[in-house]
Amino acid sequence: MATIYIAYGSVEGQTAHIAEYIADVIRAHGHQAETADLKHSADTLPDGQDGVIVAASVHVGKHEGFVADFVRRNRGDLERLPSALVSVSLAAHGHEADAEGYVAKFEEETGWHPAHVALFGGALPYTQYNFLKRQLMKKIVKDKGSQDLDTSRDYIYTEWDGVRHFTEEFLARVTAPAGQGQGTGTTSTEVPGSSPGFNP
Ligand SMILES: Cc1cc2nc3c(=O)[nH]c(=O)nc-3n(C[C@H](O)[C@H](O)[C@H](O)COP(=O)(O)O)c2cc1C
Repeated sequence: MATIYIAYGSVEGQTAHIAEYIADVIRAHGHQAETADLKHSADTLPDGQDGVIVAASVHVGKHEGFVADFVRRNRGDLERLPSALVSVSLAAHGHEADAEGYVAKFEEETGWHPAHVALFGGALPYTQYNFLKRQLMKKIVKDKGSQDLDTSRDYIYTEWDGVRHFTEEFLARVTAPAGQGQGTGTTSTEVPGSSPGFNP
């Protein structure tokens, strides 16, 4: 049985949902998973992990600074163990080049070049935003040409099938016989296909 650590940063909660969903998939396959909200938890990776997934969301072009701190502090372990980065943003839903740019910036900032990167669409939870944030996000989304402007509802862009698929592939790498797990060191980026919604 493998033990996987899922360390995440989340401001409005969608990356937290994704991290918990990843943990559920891992447990459903008979393995152990622990999620850690990096805003509140210890900043050192606990011993005894077989794999680590770091998940972070993008705000104003950047992933959470405290996730970058965690990565810098634990870079040696992230490079030694099977590991992956999950990047959550609106850009991942239809503007993949921008989403890849955020990841490139994160890699530059942390010095960590994850062998596996997944880009997942996040959410536009208008009903959770305060007035100013709601107007700001509506304007940004409108400027991108999206029709998702009804601020009385939330829009969710995460493709859960894509998250499950990514998790199962990650598990397969972790549990592969020695020498077949981490691959060749080349980076693979998973971009689940777009779904209706944020579709500029
Ligand atoms: C103030 C603010 C700024 C944002 N900036 C960006 C951005 O620069 N690029 C982007 O693709 N998404 C941006 N987003 C969208 C978030 O990445 C998306 O809502 C994501 O689901 C947030 O994840 P979280 O709920 O885990 O914090 C922004 C959202 C907010 C509220």
